[in-house]
Amino acid sequence: MNRNRHQETTEITELILDAAAKARAEIGVVGKQAATGKSAKWPIDCTIGPGLEGAIACESKVGYVNGGAGLLSYRGYDIFELCAYSTYEEVSYLLLHGHLPTAEALRDYEQKLANYRHMNQTLRLLMSFPVEKMNAMAALRMGTIFMRQEFTSLDHEEAKPDLLDAISADEDSIAMETKPSGERRAIYEFKKKKSRKKSKKSNRDDANGLEACYHLIAGVPTITAAIARLRQGMMPYEPLNELSHAGNIFYMLNGRRPTPIEERVLDVALILHADHGMNASTFASMVVASTMSDIYFSVGSGIAALNGPLHGGANERVLHTIREVGSPENAGAWVKDSLAKNEKIPGFGHRVYKTYDPRARILGPLAKFQCSGCTDEIQNLISTAEKVEQEVINSLAQEKKIFPNVDYYSGVVYTRLGIDPAMFTPLFAVSRVAGWTARVLEYIQKNRIFRPRALYTGAFNREFVAIDER
Ligand SMILES: CC(C)(COP(=O)(O)OP(=O)(O)OC[C@H]1O[C@@H](n2cnc3c(N)ncnc32)[C@H](O)[C@@H]1OP(=O)(O)O)[C@@H](O)C(=O)NCCC(=O)NCCS
Repeated sequence: MNRNRHQETTEITELILDAAAKARAEIGVVGKQAATGKSAKWPIDCTIGPGLEGAIACESKVGYVNGGAGLLSYRGYDIFELCAYSTYEEVSYLLLHGHLPTAEALRDYEQKLANYRHMNQTLRLLMSFPVEKMNAMAALRMGTIFMRQEFTSLDHEEAKPDLLDAISADEDSIAMETKPSGERRAIYEFKKKKSRKKSKKSNRDDANGLEACYHLIAGVPTITAAIARLRQGMMPYEPLNELSHAGNIFYMLNGRRPTPIEERVLDVALILHADHGMNASTFASMVVASTMSDIYFSVGSGIAALNGPLHGGANERVLHTIREVGSPENAGAWVKDSLAKNEKIPGFGHRVYKTYDPRARILGPLAKFQCSGCTDEIQNLISTAEKVEQEVINSLAQEKKIFPNVDYYSGVVYTRLGIDPAMFTPLFAVSRVAGWTARVLEYIQKNRIFRPRALYTGAFNREFVAIDER
């Protein structure tokens, strides 16, 4: 790894390394036995609770989370190291391929991403829907299906009307009827089979292979940025080939090139969200893949699962919460009141982490760094967030092992990057698409359809009662 890569943003690197040192000092050294393999005593001593808690669904080499110790690594590389020295491009390559790219492999991969970012047909289709009135995640999910259409021939295109010919240069025209020629009913024009170069190679493999993963990693950001623009009643920005992945996302969202600090902060946030064990959205995408559907449908289900407020939807709610609290002075009473009402405070708690989430250890200081020297309003936002954190930890850390999770500070980080709260969860998907695709790709190598069972607790032998006797 080139440790001198981020020369313009050394203060960010130092901040990450400080967070790493602090984590290591608190966690200590975790032995292999405690961390992996046998300690789970799988499959015999595995107790499974509601929400499949404790269940082990597969083996994986993609990433590792130790919730007791607060450790996270991708393909064996510690998350702090990756944030300090790597980039999202390298990390997504690492997740997919299992090893860091050579300089040449990275150049090729970056070139592919640059090409795949341009998706005119997908964007044209997207723009024919009222995206500005839709939930951004719903629009994103729809966009991935348009990508599938643009990239693959899974729907046996050759058997259907040739849309590319039928849609004229006039974008208002609809590919439906033949020229008006006086028939009493419309005649739909189905053209004869046309052998297009694409259809020969584009088959099921395309939609379950590495190219589809690259396509999705590059394309989901383009769709996300287009959705953000359309929601503001503006046209999407075309990606710029000379910018990095994070740089392009920032540019397509904000319409200006990022400063080195903004680019780096977004890049670190992307790395932190790229993969996280068998979380709900990853599992959802794997379940779909296990039916031998395809990777576009898998990613679509990942997006659907990520949308929920218990998962990726939490970061948007955190920002609303901090604004609702209003000031550090209100934090104590607000937390007390929420807990008395048995409410869950967004951005806290985790199924796996029973200690401080390592991702929050980086995002917290990053958020503070971005807010230093800012307006009173921004300073107030971060001080309120810190005070709420302290109050929640004082109340819940010891008894319930509740600490801030990845979503707690990401909202503040994104806000400082000029990103609208409605786009926080789509931005999570932009990054997590690397983890979804890497795990799906790994799983389908030795695929077995997911099919758990439910413990039946209902009645038996009930006698059917006719409708007029009920
Ligand atoms: C993440 C989450 C869904 C994990 O759920 P889970 O593993 O099923 O944990 P549980 O809901 O069983 O929580 C265990 C206990 O901690 C409490 N708890 C969990 N998260 C809490 C929170 N954010 N605020 C207050 N109490 C919380 C629960 O009320 C429960 O208390 P109890 O044992 O007295 O009933 C849950 O912590 C949550 O809803 N957090 C808020 C949403 C969020 O930030 N999601 C993003 C996750 S990355």
